[in-house]
Amino acid sequence: MPSLARVKRSVPTNVDRSETTGRSASTDWSAYATAYDLLSEHNPEYQALLRDFEGFLATIKTPQLIYDIGGGTGNYTEIAARACPDSEIRFVEPDAGMIRSARSKLAAHGNIKHDTFALEDIDAPGTADLIICVHALYAMPAQEQRLGDLYRLLRPGGWLYLVDLGRYMNVADWRRYLFSNLKKEHGLVGALRIFWQGREIAKQNKTILKAQKKGVYWTHTEAEIALAATAAGFKILRQEAVYRGYSDLLVCQAKP
Ligand SMILES: C[S@@+](CC[C@H](N)C(=O)[O-])C[C@H]1O[C@@H](n2cnc3c(N)ncnc32)[C@H](O)[C@@H]1O
Repeated sequence: MPSLARVKRSVPTNVDRSETTGRSASTDWSAYATAYDLLSEHNPEYQALLRDFEGFLATIKTPQLIYDIGGGTGNYTEIAARACPDSEIRFVEPDAGMIRSARSKLAAHGNIKHDTFALEDIDAPGTADLIICVHALYAMPAQEQRLGDLYRLLRPGGWLYLVDLGRYMNVADWRRYLFSNLKKEHGLVGALRIFWQGREIAKQNKTILKAQKKGVYWTHTEAEIALAATAAGFKILRQEAVYRGYSDLLVCQAKP
């Protein structure tokens, strides 16, 4: 598969770029990667988002070129690769630990190219038919410019499937929610075991909250993200609060 993306500036992976960007140290995504899928599998809200994406994909013409930006451990790309085996998929993920998990999960699919870049480091023509960007935009620098980057990567009329954490990550609230679901499914001992195995997630979620409070990570209302997406050139076809009201889901098209 030819390489479509060029790197604008070379940034080593898994490096805290706070010194160069002026952003304070934040989430250790590689540490997060170790337990990410364990808790995602047991989080009904995460599973509901995956189903929503799969349903959305079934409603559009098969996209030939798909980007998954900030793709993490590859769960959305896996759905896209299964549903669109003849499409080119560009999996863009700057964190070494996350991309390692994704590579092993996606190894069976021959139509995926893994790019260890940050969104802001991609310089590619605007030919994408679909961009997936789930729970990643809030963690990027200068989110309004990043929405502009997403717009530029798309062909006119191309789709953006965007989910973004907008409200403060209430770690205690999520802990209660996940624990009560786990207890129902696996009993008290099973729930405690899974919680222990996934303890890194709680730790990293605390760092997300800290970064949100410091303003390093973007927080937004439904209206604010809609305004930012529209300002970047998107037409919003669907918007709703998801993930227990913590996040916003926007299905958009790039206006010509
Ligand atoms: C919470 S994870 C979401 C992963 C995946 N999209 C999902 O929903 O399962 C956020 C991801 O955004 C990535 N990320 C952070 N800053 C980024 C940037 N500037 N460009 C692209 N991805 C970024 C992180 O490395 C991390 O893997």
